[in-house]
Amino acid sequence: MIGTQGPNIVVIGSINMDIVIETPFLPEKGETIMGSEMRLLPGGKGANQAVAAARLGMDTSFIGAVGKDRFGEQMLQELNQHSIVQSLTVMPEEKTGVASIWIHDQDNRIVVVPGANGKITWPDIEARKSYIDRADVVLLQLEIPPDTVVECIKYAYGKGKKVILNPAPAHPLPEEIYPLLYTLTPNRQELSILAGAPEILTANDFTVLHMAMQKMIDKGLPSIMVTLGADGVVYMNASGHTFHIPGMKMDVTDTTGAGDCFNAALAVSVARGWSMKQAAEYAVAASALAVTKFGAQNGMPEAAEVEQLMERAY
Ligand code: RIB
Repeated sequence: MIGTQGPNIVVIGSINMDIVIETPFLPEKGETIMGSEMRLLPGGKGANQAVAAARLGMDTSFIGAVGKDRFGEQMLQELNQHSIVQSLTVMPEEKTGVASIWIHDQDNRIVVVPGANGKITWPDIEARKSYIDRADVVLLQLEIPPDTVVECIKYAYGKGKKVILNPAPAHPLPEEIYPLLYTLTPNRQELSILAGAPEILTANDFTVLHMAMQKMIDKGLPSIMVTLGADGVVYMNASGHTFHIPGMKMDVTDTTGAGDCFNAALAVSVARGWSMKQAAEYAVAASALAVTKFGAQNGMPEAAEVEQLMERAY
């Protein structure tokens, strides 16, 4: 039960059916090629993060939206299987979100059709504000309308909650919300868009990256944690404290959902009251495990697996 004892988090975000296709190479414009495998798997950045947090042992609730269709019913069952307290708006006029995911060369390319995710409004969330009221940490992404996310941030901040925003996919945001966040967790590409710093996409050293992070801190962010995939994470806060946690070398099966796992593990650690460095180490280890299994939610590790990996690594 949420809120009975111990910390808990609420994830507000998207829920998709992932149509995952493995392909031996990527098609050129106008070309048709043969893929090797197709799977229908539960996904969506919001739902992935909720599942990851629950598997890490956190009391987790999820707020999102689905269409009144077969995919929506399947997604609901998935959340229930993970003991996630969910409150989904069922939108009869909309379809459940889908993501077309191409897996090639140990990496992915994703096109999302948001469906119901794209229609969720602040009044839909406000009707479920008790989930926010009782949470220690509120975790959001940008696969639901940014205006809705902004209202959630304002409400949660007003209630004294620690709000973590994973700005994926990147979208310009009103700068007034940055001071209201506990931390922002872009990847390199998202940071390049939010900070207007395309140079970080090709830079090999941390100086250029730090400059882009400082630009975000200058907008009022208390802290920022940039995920660098196999290279780990870099952190900076408004007092000028920075650290880098290197990535862990793993046998990669599928990177889909690794970023979601990172964000969930970070939120779980913050809810447990850990320092940002401890939280980053835990989140790096959790997301390292996530890439060793196929599928976004299927790859999310249990807390014991993360602890074992950390004992070996640190
Ligand atoms: O982060 C991975 C997720 O992005 C996939 O599960 C897909 O649904 C898209 O939302």
